Amino acid sequence: MSQNNFYITTPIYYVNDVPHIGHAYTTIAADTLSRWHKSGGDKTWFLTGTDEHGQKIQTAAEKRNITPKQLCDEVVQNFQKLWKVLDIKNDDFIRTTEERHEKVVQEVFRRLLANGDVYKGEYEGWYCVPCETYVPEAQMGEGQTCPDCHRPLTKMTEETYFFKLSKYAEPLLKFYEEHPDAVMPKSRYNEIVSFIKSGLRDQSISRTTLSWGIPLPGDEKHVIYVWFDALINYLSALDFPRDGGKWETFWPAVHHLVGKDIIRFHCVIWPAMLMALGVNPPVKVFAHGWWTVDGEKMSKSVGNVVDPFEMAERYGVDPFRYFLLREVPFGNDGDFSELAFVQRINSDLANDLGNLLSRTLQMIDKYRGGVVPAKYVKTQIEDDVEAMASKTVEEMTDLLDRFAFDEALKTLWAFISRSNKYIDETEPWKLGKAGDIDRLDAVLRTLWESLRLSAVLLAPFMPDTASRIWEQLGLPGDPLGFGRANWEWGKLDTEITVKKGDILYPRIDIEKWKAERAERDAAKKQKTAPVAASAEVEHKPEIEIDDFKKIELRVALVEDVEIVPKADRLYVLHLDLGYEKRTIVSSIREFYKPEELKGKKIIVICNLKPAKFRGIPSAGMLLAAEGKSADKENVVLLTLMDDSIPAGSIVG
Ligand code: ME8
Ligand code: MG
Repeated sequence: MSQNNFYITTPIYYVNDVPHIGHAYTTIAADTLSRWHKSGGDKTWFLTGTDEHGQKIQTAAEKRNITPKQLCDEVVQNFQKLWKVLDIKNDDFIRTTEERHEKVVQEVFRRLLANGDVYKGEYEGWYCVPCETYVPEAQMGEGQTCPDCHRPLTKMTEETYFFKLSKYAEPLLKFYEEHPDAVMPKSRYNEIVSFIKSGLRDQSISRTTLSWGIPLPGDEKHVIYVWFDALINYLSALDFPRDGGKWETFWPAVHHLVGKDIIRFHCVIWPAMLMALGVNPPVKVFAHGWWTVDGEKMSKSVGNVVDPFEMAERYGVDPFRYFLLREVPFGNDGDFSELAFVQRINSDLANDLGNLLSRTLQMIDKYRGGVVPAKYVKTQIEDDVEAMASKTVEEMTDLLDRFAFDEALKTLWAFISRSNKYIDETEPWKLGKAGDIDRLDAVLRTLWESLRLSAVLLAPFMPDTASRIWEQLGLPGDPLGFGRANWEWGKLDTEITVKKGDILYPRIDIEKWKAERAERDAAKKQKTAPVAASAEVEHKPEIEIDDFKKIELRVALVEDVEIVPKADRLYVLHLDLGYEKRTIVSSIREFYKPEELKGKKIIVICNLKPAKFRGIPSAGMLLAAEGKSADKENVVLLTLMDDSIPAGSIVG
């Protein structure tokens, strides 16, 4: 088996998001492949990192009155901590605010400007701030909303530099024709090819509307568009274009793991940028599917975001890694259910794997005083197990070359089950009683060897579990320590003293678990109740009923919702009060989508002195509760639960 170069990457994640199972998923998959290739002797480099520029970060920092860099320095730690907890062994971590990255981005820009693939022009279009992308009119949702996040779009005109993407449509099609495996799975490949065939437009790659970005060399009012900046991380982390540097070793042997949400960037824009630079496109982009939770889209406002820290703490890092990769075929969408997770711990880890280890070690202790001899006489059944072992290694190699983590694990588990069955077939306890030491040694050594090999094959997925098995088997060092020699059956031909230890994974009582989970859900709801102790609540002075009566509260029907250009927190609400119509400007845009408001009856203070916001008249104020939900500030409007009362009615 020859040594290959293998470069594996994850997307660089936006720092403004709290890391959730989606991010954990891609990174665990990349870590597993990296460990697999390292243990197979490939020269391997594993990169992850964070995407730190752009409007979202700038806005989030402004809200907190700190600089964007301060914000990034703080939140990047969420990711770095998570990778530590999840036992991610990346070789490098790149942040797009690092100088080593910024200077490469500027260099790439200069080169493309010099060769004419970048030019200056003007762009007008509908922009989605949360997604950092312009949305073509044909793809806009109803009422100028983003087809992805459904939030309102902002109309923008700006002077901008364009990348001549259109020029690369033909070269890209040719590349994909010649490299039918460059994008996987096949459905994504087809999607990309037909997207390119439908025509490519030049891509705007600079912005003048924000300052938080890499300055465009030679034209300081521009910063480089965050995606153009971000994609280059895969090169800058390899010290591109330094001669003889890492990039010459690892390019184009790169394997980009991404979610299906960002394939156009990775399979259209990125390879075109590389072609423009005179560099080969990546050998592989694998787009995996999307996780939902209990059948629903994960979202902060629904409050169903699965916290990987919590999962790892509750159930262990390795079971979490195992579950994510085992549960869903890589490439398909998947649903995260904690119950399914717990059931898999019981069946696959406690039962299949755990039992194989504990039964084997128990018998070695009981019948052979904890020592397994090296020499034994094989019979047909030992040959069968051994043949299955080498087939397992071959198949897993093949499956992992195709990113089929779930099937690779299934294959390994078929071998583990075979080994358990081997115990039932050979009945070592009978051999022990009968004193048939020769057969007993053959069986025990075969079982020991099956476990040894299983630990080696499992290690990239569940590093700590594999080490625990290794130790109990009486082996020194690390399961991945010996490279590919480890993958062979029976390499070690010395006597071994085993060290039986704790049970690998205790069974979880499902009924108890359900009760505990119900309690947890209830506690979560509780958390949304007022948090301050009564002594800390600030009160206003007492008032007379007449004071209250000065306030005119009425029911208003929300007829329409408009966004305010360049003010991303504001909405203009068009209200019907029955006897008149009026507008109120309110900063609730981050909490509601327009369609969530339209048609609702809300409560307004109508006799508040009229004012203007950004030149738009605002007469009155909405009643809303402000507080925390799911640990973040939230605003919930007071609406009528029963809207049989007409608009304009008095509230009091
Ligand atoms: O897009 N299911 O960053 P991002 C599965 N900064 N995977 C998910 C997921 C889910 N529900 N949610 C997120 C960006 N992911 C850019 C990338 S790369 C040059 C720049 C994973 O923080 C998945 O890998 O929005 C997805 O592609 C990625 O997180 C998006 O991360
Ligand atoms: Mg995203």
